[in-house]
Amino acid sequence: MVCLGNICRSPIAEGIMRSKVKEHNLDWQVDSAGTESYHIGSKPHKYSQEVCEINGIDISGQKARQFNKADFGKYDKIYAMAEDVFEEIKLKGESDVQNVSLFLNELNSGANESVPDPYYGGQEGYTLVYELIDKTCDAIIKKYK
Ligand code: 4NP
Repeated sequence: MVCLGNICRSPIAEGIMRSKVKEHNLDWQVDSAGTESYHIGSKPHKYSQEVCEINGIDISGQKARQFNKADFGKYDKIYAMAEDVFEEIKLKGESDVQNVSLFLNELNSGANESVPDPYYGGQEGYTLVYELIDKTCDAIIKKYK
């Protein structure tokens, strides 16, 4: 699960997906990262932590890290939370980007939609982001389990 800072959207995606993977007894490994370096080592944004906590998911132990080239070989699926993130990942991957896709295309195939960046807005943006990510994780579980 990849976004820009790895503090708002992708930590929520990691937390929700880990929780669903456990619920469905799957042996998938889930991780998240950001394409940018600004927040390396930081915990998820307080509103990301709060919206997850309200839904029974603890993401307080996560720490932001930067996406790197080795990730291409480590994961079967790499999901970009937004189109700008997808472009950044492609720049890092040269030709090695077959396993990268836009996360929301698992919900609305071919619509090429992005999870809105909640960083510059208020708490309500994080609720919307949570709901979108939750629905999309359900769709991914249904498709690949
Ligand atoms: P994220 O949100 O990519 O969902 O973690 C952002 C976090 C920080 C910044 C931009 C987006 N920033 O510019 O610092």
